[in-house]
Amino acid sequence: MWKKWFAKKPAKNKIYDTVERDKMPQHIAIIMDGNGRWAKGKGLPRAFGHRAGVESLREIVYTAIDMNLKVLTVYAFSTENWKRPEDEVNLLMRLFSEYIDSEVEDMHRKNVQIRFIGKLDELASELQEKFEKTQMHTGKNTGLVLNLAVNYGGRAEIVRSVQIIGEKIARGEMLPQEITEMSIHDNLYTADLPDPDLLIRPSGDFRVSNFLLWQSAYTEYWFSDILWPDFKPNHLIEAIIDYQKRERRFGGLKK
Ligand code: FPP
Repeated sequence: MWKKWFAKKPAKNKIYDTVERDKMPQHIAIIMDGNGRWAKGKGLPRAFGHRAGVESLREIVYTAIDMNLKVLTVYAFSTENWKRPEDEVNLLMRLFSEYIDSEVEDMHRKNVQIRFIGKLDELASELQEKFEKTQMHTGKNTGLVLNLAVNYGGRAEIVRSVQIIGEKIARGEMLPQEITEMSIHDNLYTADLPDPDLLIRPSGDFRVSNFLLWQSAYTEYWFSDILWPDFKPNHLIEAIIDYQKRERRFGGLKK
């Protein structure tokens, strides 16, 4: 798979040769930021930026598939994004729906398991149904797990986990002293997945914006000025190469 992927790349593009295939991150998370600024810079309405952002996502997903990545989690809409003008929120919801219509079948053929994480019950019922159908349709696939975070907030996810635990305690199925890091982890959306090894935030801001707060305790961050619609597979490779140079100690000492 790797060989096939590298073979497609121009021979003189040395960046691909520098990736160490035995040190690949298992889980990459991306904050797809900068769509609005990209459009503004071109004198276009913000909607164009979001549409261009969908194109970037497509390329990155296919690169992730070719690289045999295990998990890719992308931040598509946060619990705070409802504060945006109604037109923009409606456009984003429409894009999610169109994305499913146009992309799911191809991804399914590529063995991608598509999941949606976030407070999905607050979305329009037609969109919820589409998400549900997509998850069912691709649920047995064994390739890349693509998590699309929609109406997602890291704090809300932790609260939800604690509420599930609280309900168990109220029913007498668990004792308060049995609340541990593991039990909180076990009730997150990503409970069955490895934590992100690498979190990429393009477009110049240095913050985590309520994304995967619990899971990113030891995640490596990679920031860049590139706006999401300009983010290409080369940038992903660049981030991975940078990640591979780092020493992860998880609170321990240098080896
Ligand atoms: C942040 O850029 C981006 C978003 C809030 C939406 C991300 C959505 C997409 C990439 C397209 C749709 C996704 C799917 C899954 C179909 P911003 O608008 O905050 O940009 P700005 O900071 O430059 O204003």
